[in-house]
Amino acid sequence: MSPTNRSLGISKTQGIFDGKVALITGGTSGIGAATVKRVSNLGANVFFTGRRVGEAKKLIRETKHNAGKVVFFPSDLRDRADVEKIVPAAVATFGRLDFAFNNAGVSGPTGLLTEQSEQSFDLVFAVNVKAVFLLLQNELRQMVAQDSGGSIVNTSSVGGILAAPGSAPYVASKHAVLGLTKSAAVEYGKYGIRVNAVSPGAIRTELLLSVFGSHEALDQLGSVHPLSRIGSPEEIAESVVWLFSDSSSYFTGQSLVVDGGLTAQRPGATPLTIARDSAA
Ligand SMILES: NC(=O)c1ccc[n+]([C@@H]2O[C@H](COP(=O)([O-])OP(=O)(O)OC[C@H]3O[C@@H](n4cnc5c(N)ncnc54)[C@H](OP(=O)(O)O)[C@@H]3O)[C@@H](O)[C@H]2O)c1
Repeated sequence: MSPTNRSLGISKTQGIFDGKVALITGGTSGIGAATVKRVSNLGANVFFTGRRVGEAKKLIRETKHNAGKVVFFPSDLRDRADVEKIVPAAVATFGRLDFAFNNAGVSGPTGLLTEQSEQSFDLVFAVNVKAVFLLLQNELRQMVAQDSGGSIVNTSSVGGILAAPGSAPYVASKHAVLGLTKSAAVEYGKYGIRVNAVSPGAIRTELLLSVFGSHEALDQLGSVHPLSRIGSPEEIAESVVWLFSDSSSYFTGQSLVVDGGLTAQRPGATPLTIARDSAA
C-alpha cells in the first residue's frame, strides 16, 4: 500500500481514541508532528512539546478540524525544570493522561568515538535519555494514580540495536532508551501500563536530513533497503497508533522495529551474493 493511500484504514479506526489524552514530545516536526496529526484525528486530545513556537502554531492550524483538541507546551528538554513541568501541565489542561510518546531526540555531531566531545555526549544524553527517564517517572506516577492503565511509547532507533560508524553517543543513547523501556514495562505491567519502544530506521525528517545533507543523499540511502526507499514520518505514526491502541493489548517491554527491512538483511547480501550462495 502506498504510504499516502490509507483512506480505508482511517475510516475503520476513526474515533478509536475518543476521550483519551496523549502527550507527545518533539511534536514540532518529523515523526512527532505526524503523530500529533494522526492521534488527534483519531479523537484523542493531544498535548505536544518542542521549542519552536512557529512550527507549533502551524501544526495547531493544520489540526484545527481534527476530532481531538491539540495544545502546545513550549519546553526545552535539556532543562530539568522544564521537563518536570510537562506532565503536570498536560494533566492540568486535559484532566488525565492515557498515552505518552517520548519521542523528542537529537542526533548530535557525527565523528569517530575518539573525536566526540564530552559536551556532545552530554547534550545527546540529556535529551535522548535523561529527559525520557524524568518523563517516564512523571507519566508512570500519573497513570498509577489514575488506576486505569495506559500506554507509553519511547522513540529508540535502529541505532538502539546496531551501531553505525560516526554516532557513538547517539547509538549509546538509543540503546539506553530500550533499557528504560524494558525496566518501566516490567515494573509497571501490574498496573495495566504498557511501555514499548518504536525503533525507526531511516525516516525522511529534518534530523536525518541534517546528518545526510540532501534529499538526493536520502534517496541513495533508500536504495540499500529491502523496500528500496526510506520511510515517512506517517509510517512511524501508524506504529505508535497501534502501540497506543488496544490492538496491542498483550505487547509490552518490546521494541517495534520499523525499518523497511534494513535490519533483517544480512550485511553485504546482494542479488549477486545470493546467486553465488545458491550455486555453492
Ligand atoms: N529520522 C530518522 O531517520 C530517525 C530514525 C530513528 C530514530 N529517530 C528518532 O525519532 C525521534 C524524532 O526525530 P525526527 O526524525 O522526527 O526528527 P526532527 O524532525 O528533528 O524532530 C525532533 C524533535 O525533537 C525536538 N527536540 C529536539 N531537541 C529538543 C530539546 N532540547 N527540547 C525539546 N525538544 C527538542 C524537536 O523540537 P524543537 O526543535 O522544536 O525543540 C523536534 O520536534 C528522535 O528521537 C530521533 O532520534 C529518527
